[in-house]
Amino acid sequence: MQINSDKEKTLIVYFSHTGNTRRIAEQIRDNTGGDLVEIETLDEYPADHNEILEQARKEINTGYRPALKTRIESMSDYTLLFLGYPNWWGTIPTPISAFLEEHDLSGKKIAPFCTHGTGGLARTVEAVRKSCPDSKVLDAMGISNNRVHEAEGEVTEWLSHIHGK
Ligand SMILES: Cc1cc2nc3c(=O)[nH]c(=O)nc-3n(C[C@H](O)[C@H](O)[C@H](O)COP(=O)(O)O)c2cc1C
Repeated sequence: MQINSDKEKTLIVYFSHTGNTRRIAEQIRDNTGGDLVEIETLDEYPADHNEILEQARKEINTGYRPALKTRIESMSDYTLLFLGYPNWWGTIPTPISAFLEEHDLSGKKIAPFCTHGTGGLARTVEAVRKSCPDSKVLDAMGISNNRVHEAEGEVTEWLSHIHGK
């Protein structure tokens, strides 16, 4: 399916710590032909699960914003943004908050996709809407981390739902 057209320029931007969200982002890229960009932080997050849980909890609770390596100078070229992230403590990871705050996304369509454990999309879409009050936030897709390897059908179904919105 090709949802890029002359008037719709698509960017797939995502943050992923353990690769689940990256895998889904790549599927979206393969299906849409959009440009793919990973949001990277200057300082890496700890690999140890308990350590990152604790660090993420503190960052979210204090409103901390990590410094990013990633900046998209050509953002004004894009009209549709697929925004991918893992559920972190029921909300969006702080690198996603930083990214949304550092770019002008007004007037753009944003299609959020989230990988998660048992918590689903939780409050993540609400957080995206709050950070992007002047964007059109489309229906989000949530993929459980144990289904990432067999999500192709869900991804294409969601893309055809998003198409034309
Ligand atoms: C810091 C942290 C917090 C998390 N909090 C939640 C949560 O509240 N609910 C949930 O369902 N999954 C939670 N998870 C699980 C991740 O959302 C899930 O494994 C996701 O697929 C990871 O994506 P990634 O591989 O792209 O980083 C958390 C993971 C981490 C590292």
